[in-house]
Amino acid sequence: MSIADAARLIREGELVAFPTETVYGLGGDATNERAVAKIFEAKGRPQFNPLISHVLDAGEAKRLVQWNETADKLAARFWPGPLTLVLPRIKGSPIALLATAGLDTAAIRAPAHPMAQALIRAAGRPIAGPSANRSGAVSPTRAEHVAESLGDRVKLILDGGPCEVGLESTVLDLSTSTPTLLRPGGATREAIEAVIGPIAVSDAIPSGDSARKSPGQLASHYAPARPVRLNATNIAADEALLAFGPQSPSGARQTLNLSPNGDLTEAAANLFTYLRALDQAGNVRIAVMPIPQTGLGLAINDRLRRAAADDGTDGRR
Ligand code: TXA
Ligand code: MG
Repeated sequence: MSIADAARLIREGELVAFPTETVYGLGGDATNERAVAKIFEAKGRPQFNPLISHVLDAGEAKRLVQWNETADKLAARFWPGPLTLVLPRIKGSPIALLATAGLDTAAIRAPAHPMAQALIRAAGRPIAGPSANRSGAVSPTRAEHVAESLGDRVKLILDGGPCEVGLESTVLDLSTSTPTLLRPGGATREAIEAVIGPIAVSDAIPSGDSARKSPGQLASHYAPARPVRLNATNIAADEALLAFGPQSPSGARQTLNLSPNGDLTEAAANLFTYLRALDQAGNVRIAVMPIPQTGLGLAINDRLRRAAADDGTDGRR
């Protein structure tokens, strides 16, 4: 199959594994909530960790996030290459909310592998892509690794040979006043500091070999400002309802159904969009119906528990 076929699959909302210079990525249309939900489903992620959106260059990144001078300098030096930049989403950013786990920031990277670049160009949109392995497994650096762990879960695996870098990109947060290293990776701290001066290192990064074992735990997570009540089977008059499945209680001020058919992939695709939609003036609390604890339901419930546990001060942790 060709790049054109792969690009067509991406545009149709399907998943394609693709080579980058760091590791193989599990790619889906970053602007399509449903495609992004499929990524989490295929990975078997217990949580919705925010994903990297892959672009061709800084020009494309500027259409997705609030670019700044530091980003300019770093992109000039490292892109295309193994450096991921976290920046605030622009208002109306086309990136799916699920791809950024509902956060106000987005991680962007321009990969150096020619096949990745050809795919992004042909798809004509940013491609969301975590490493193409089942959750908890080692990141794949050859097409065979992807076939072993995800073979039956992707429509197509583009074989671009072994990855040159072999470990994931460095993740640098530029949304904070001091640039902060969130994940060590293919671009070294020294090389980054040579371009922009001293950076901070996230407290969450343990020293030594365990450094790359818990990447997803570093990011803060979106939580609504309104209190969230879980496993709701009845409704109070001041509540908005996040429903699931064919039978939802009546009487809510506003109801949005994650999936009237009870489809967990559809529910995941709608989760952050609907939570945000219900988290607005007029609604005092948000009640959430029980979600089955199977498949993507685990990740959905994980996010909902975090949303319910939040103190509600600023909607962020
Ligand atoms: O080399 C790589 O980065 C590979 C290739 C395929 O590009 N991708 C990769 O993706 O390793 P993933 O999903 O396994 O790791 C993405 C990392 C995670 O540590 C995640 O927490 C962080 O990026 N991240 C993504 N969006 C973020 C955000 N908005 N704020 C903070 N961290 C974010
Ligand atoms: Mg990974």
